[in-house]
Amino acid sequence: MSLQNNKPLTTISSLNNLKSKSEKFTCLTAYESTMASVISKAGVDVILVGDSLGMVVQGHDSTLPVTMDQLIYHLECVVQGNQGSHIMADMPFMSYATDDLGFENATRLMQNGAHSVKIEGGEWICKMANTLAERGIPVCAHIGLTPQAINRIGGYFVQGRDTNKQDLMIAEAKALEDAGAAMLLLECVPDKLAEIITNELKIPVIGIGAGAKTDGQIMVIHDLLGISCLESPPKFVKDFMEDASSIHDAIEMYVKSVKSGSFPAKEHTFY
Ligand code: KIV
Repeated sequence: MSLQNNKPLTTISSLNNLKSKSEKFTCLTAYESTMASVISKAGVDVILVGDSLGMVVQGHDSTLPVTMDQLIYHLECVVQGNQGSHIMADMPFMSYATDDLGFENATRLMQNGAHSVKIEGGEWICKMANTLAERGIPVCAHIGLTPQAINRIGGYFVQGRDTNKQDLMIAEAKALEDAGAAMLLLECVPDKLAEIITNELKIPVIGIGAGAKTDGQIMVIHDLLGISCLESPPKFVKDFMEDASSIHDAIEMYVKSVKSGSFPAKEHTFY
């Protein structure tokens, strides 16, 4: 693992520490070494090697085609460029469909340089989160809009708009924390629901399209750079290149905006 500038590695305890001090932290996706280097040098706390690479790198219309071997290839590239950020690796579609598969694939990601793994799902992933956590693998549980389930959900819609769904999501979040998840990621949920979950959980909560109250924020790097693969980017996306003079500058602006609480703003939030 490269730590050329001797920047201390961001760990799960650093993120817990930031949450305890009510300090916001930043996360961005990366898929290759140069961008990982720029992102980590700009002070981003967490780099996600996301299965969004299926859309923004490979050009598919969902994350489903991404394989374990492809994810590991991109993870290895990111590890080369990283300079102290915490590297979270996504477990691709069906790579944790059974306990044995999940255990084996999470092990591969950790052995190739990930510091934690991310899995999508609700209550059904509690057992997996517990098995991995007990064996020393920190897990980020991803709930709300879960893109790997897009064919069941039917589209990229905001989740948890009605009271029943909200109660279910709060219960899922607590169950995942109790099961041993080290972090929670909330995608596309109303800000009030995200605020309740963030306040009720002790573990750090990361948001995308979840308002400004979560402990951390995450964005897909292509969205931040204004080169979204979608015709009209989602409401929660901000093109930081609009006011920046370079990619480095745009990423630093993102870090400053999240830390100061000015991003996401009202226009990026679902109510
Ligand atoms: O794969 C990814 O980039 C993600 C983010 C959208 C959170 O899961």
